[in-house]
Amino acid sequence: RPFYYYEEVGSTNQVAKDLAEQGAPHGAAVLAEGQTSGRGRLGRGWLSPAGKGIWLSLVLRPRVAPWQLPQLSLLAAVGVASAIKEITGLEVGIKWPNDILSRGKKLCGILTEMRAEVEITQYVILGIGLNVNLDIEDFTRDLWPLATSLKLELGWEVPRLPLLQSLLYHLEGWYQIWEKEGFVPVRESWKKASVTLGRLVKVEAGNEVYEGRAIDIDGEGRLLVEGADHTLRRFTYGEVTLRI
Ligand code: BTN
Repeated sequence: RPFYYYEEVGSTNQVAKDLAEQGAPHGAAVLAEGQTSGRGRLGRGWLSPAGKGIWLSLVLRPRVAPWQLPQLSLLAAVGVASAIKEITGLEVGIKWPNDILSRGKKLCGILTEMRAEVEITQYVILGIGLNVNLDIEDFTRDLWPLATSLKLELGWEVPRLPLLQSLLYHLEGWYQIWEKEGFVPVRESWKKASVTLGRLVKVEAGNEVYEGRAIDIDGEGRLLVEGADHTLRRFTYGEVTLRI
């Protein structure tokens, strides 16, 4: 696969998008030591200090319809969780759709961006931000209760190269399973690692705020939430806050 490595970029997702527009093939990878304007989900930023994390974006050209793409971000979360487990032994949880948590704090975020025309997916950019060796001073104070790193969780510095190799290996493995067998095995593995299902949650999607119990994810990866009046709501995107 073509591999692009940078000391510093604005956002690896933006670099990957530009490459995809210029025809970069499926599997092309963009990695940077540091990002000056890392992007997060829902219009937020992403803290990306140099040398402390894995800031990675992959160009994917899946042969599926655009509406199946949310499955890919759940797949990515499953791949990241497998790599963390393999290299560090740490058991992490996944908060819908694809936040990786340890002790309730965020270790890794995933941002998928895509270009699709009616019924045809042109490309998907899968952006992964994994907090590997960030120290507490690397986070702004407002993030202290919300964010963490592998080093903070484990008490030791985690070598990034083996972790990156394992990450690419597991992502590719899960991608192949998804291509051959569809979403069923991915969904199963996602559910095992889920810290969302069964919990009371608040979901913020657009202008709407909905509270209820997270029941399941459906065959597309959408979150099913049951409200107090027993009506079911399905969410394709949104920000989940775990209640109790
Ligand atoms: C989130 O908000 O949870 C998603 C964060 C995604 C961050 C990664 S870091 C590599 C890639 N480049 C970006 O600008 N964002 C993603």
